[in-house]
Amino acid sequence: MSLSLDKNDITARINKISSIEELEKLRIEYIGKKGFLSNEMQSLSLLSIEEKKIKGQELNLFKSFFEQTINNKKSDLEISALNEKLENEQIDATLPPRDFNTGKIHPISQTIYKIIDIFSSMGFSVESGPDIETDFNNFTALNIPSHHPAREMQDTFYIEDKINNEDKVLRTHTSPVQVRTMLETKPPIRIIVPGRTYRSDSDATHTPMFHQVEGLLIDNSSSMAHLKGCLIDFLKEFFEINDLQYRFRPSYFPFTEPSAEMDIAFTKNNDVWKVGAGDQWLEILGCGMVHPKVLENCKIDSKTFQGFAFGMGIERLSMLKYGITDARSFFESDFRWLNHYGFDPLDLTTSSGI
Ligand code: DAH
Repeated sequence: MSLSLDKNDITARINKISSIEELEKLRIEYIGKKGFLSNEMQSLSLLSIEEKKIKGQELNLFKSFFEQTINNKKSDLEISALNEKLENEQIDATLPPRDFNTGKIHPISQTIYKIIDIFSSMGFSVESGPDIETDFNNFTALNIPSHHPAREMQDTFYIEDKINNEDKVLRTHTSPVQVRTMLETKPPIRIIVPGRTYRSDSDATHTPMFHQVEGLLIDNSSSMAHLKGCLIDFLKEFFEINDLQYRFRPSYFPFTEPSAEMDIAFTKNNDVWKVGAGDQWLEILGCGMVHPKVLENCKIDSKTFQGFAFGMGIERLSMLKYGITDARSFFESDFRWLNHYGFDPLDLTTSSGI
């Protein structure tokens, strides 16, 4: 198409344009570096001074007019593009929301939250330690020397590498955190330690990795009576059964003296467990007064300080409370299972809101 300096011509041409790309093409054609107007400006040099003046003015006026017209057209095109977009992308607020999956709280986590909640209300704080422990913290300091038969009860996974010539194990219980805490802090101590533990075991009630919660209280006066009161209160609150039937049975742990195990009563009908009452007993935890040797191993004067400790399996507590029959199902990552046994975040019945 021939190019001219006629304002009507250019206005008609611009008006016919329907896209920003086309408009840009026209702009370059006219006022680009090598465009029509630049050429016209260059050819001014061939004219006389008088002609140059007249033609120069005409070119400048045309240029301003052109720019103005093309900019107006550009805004018009942008506005209609936006309107078209708004028209096409209308949101239908009446559509039903899309179904979406929320995560579930695993029953083990739920149980841990509940345990933490109850013990925090009794003034215990939460401690943690590493899964890979030294032989000293896991066994020796807890009065389980090498070759002690109690080591066999806790057959574990040994790690080949030694650090500072010391054997490393996947901790068989959360009790080593007692040792760490006593070595690091001075009494009074009042802690619980929920965490992962490991043993070389696998059947319906045992998995090679499982969870325990350890408790430790050290001061200068706490006795076995306090230990009993604390555990009875905990279990009643945990199972939400006020008249829970329980018994303490003498037992043996190398790290406590005297030692006991606590059982709760239950009944079982067609594989359904009912906890709290009945004619059968189920062992639920181990406990005792911390052995003076353990205190001394942890640099605490056993003539001034005393206290109690306890340890229990979180899977077992969870299975009993929520009616789960196979411990292995906790760790099979089956979504259907998790949907059934998992908890909605709002089910967290902790008063502390953890
Ligand atoms: N550590 C023991 C275990 O894994 C559980 C235990 C029993 C812990 C008695 C204690 C305790 O602190 O006093 O079998």
